[in-house]
Amino acid sequence: MKDSTKPLLQVRDLKKYFPIISGLFRKIVGHVRALDSIDFTLSQSEVLGIVGETGCGKSTLGRTVLRLIEPTAGEIFFDGKNVLSFDRQMLKSFRKEAQIVFQDPFASLNPRKTIGESIGEGLLYHGIAKNRIEEQDLVEQVLLQVGMPMDIAQRYPHQFSGGQQQRICIGRAIALRPKLIVCDEAVSALDVSVQAQILNLLQELKDNLNLSYLFISHDLSIVRHLCDRVIVLYLGKVMEQGSVDAIFNNPKHPYTQALLSAIPKRHPQEIKSRILLKGEIPSAAHPPSGCPFRTRCPFAQPICAEIPPKKMIRDPVSGKEDHEYHCIL
Ligand SMILES: Nc1ncnc2c1ncn2[C@@H]1O[C@H](COP(=O)(O)OP(=O)(O)OP(=O)(O)O)[C@@H](O)[C@H]1O
Ligand SMILES: [Mg+2]
Repeated sequence: MKDSTKPLLQVRDLKKYFPIISGLFRKIVGHVRALDSIDFTLSQSEVLGIVGETGCGKSTLGRTVLRLIEPTAGEIFFDGKNVLSFDRQMLKSFRKEAQIVFQDPFASLNPRKTIGESIGEGLLYHGIAKNRIEEQDLVEQVLLQVGMPMDIAQRYPHQFSGGQQQRICIGRAIALRPKLIVCDEAVSALDVSVQAQILNLLQELKDNLNLSYLFISHDLSIVRHLCDRVIVLYLGKVMEQGSVDAIFNNPKHPYTQALLSAIPKRHPQEIKSRILLKGEIPSAAHPPSGCPFRTRCPFAQPICAEIPPKKMIRDPVSGKEDHEYHCIL
């Protein structure tokens, strides 16, 4: 059952600046602002979509909250615990509880390990299985959960299709009984029909295992189908954030409106309403002041150079959540 009141993940003022190193003496000459003051909360059993154009910081966000990349500044709380203060032992149990599934399943599986070894490798290490026999039983259970035959444990990744490999990667993630899975474009490399099967699997696993997902995708139709809430990123900043209904039915930021208008349409009248974005995405090393989208925004006003998208406070009485960020105009 959905417990939307208990936060699983809380991220406050998260920043990740990558240094730009140049010259003979390898001096730091600037920084790429991949994430700039990101705030969000992910509740238990919730699916939070992260959308935005290429290079806007989606993968950096996913990896930073898992501490695969160290942030420059900010706070990350997982189940109420401060992730950035974890010592080695606490980081080990955090690694078990928060997993990631990548876009390319073949690249994320070791070609020299059997499927059983890949899925089972963390089970003994994290003490979930006490011996090899238990490990083997658990691997078989996981294979069943992800819709694969139990007898494939001795086979190798190259013997499977992309969709089957992604099922195996998802199996490897759920084997450790996590609470959170970051899906970084987990279905983007698959055929449309296979995408639908993997999305159904993710939905089913979420319901059965009480999982939360941080679902990174550039495909807004998929985000609408799977997610409860959405964050729209542009140049490392949140442009708009809110429930799927609020973002898709009543987008308030021109950037979100442009992204939504780019979803393929069937009706010629709808095609006419498409907002075409002009100009290049500015460099993340020198993002525009105020609202970073202003240099491409058809509605930009002088004030947009000073004030970034506004943060709304959730209604404390009704708890009703609409847009948490939106355009100031
Ligand atoms: N290790 C790194 N060193 C320097 N800059 C980096 C590094 N990783 C990412 N960046 C920069 O940070 C910004 C955000 O990159 P990121 O990969 O998070 O974007 P993304 O939204 O996931 O893009 P895509 O949709 O193409 O996957 C980009 O400008 C990128 O060049
Ligand atoms: Mg990415």
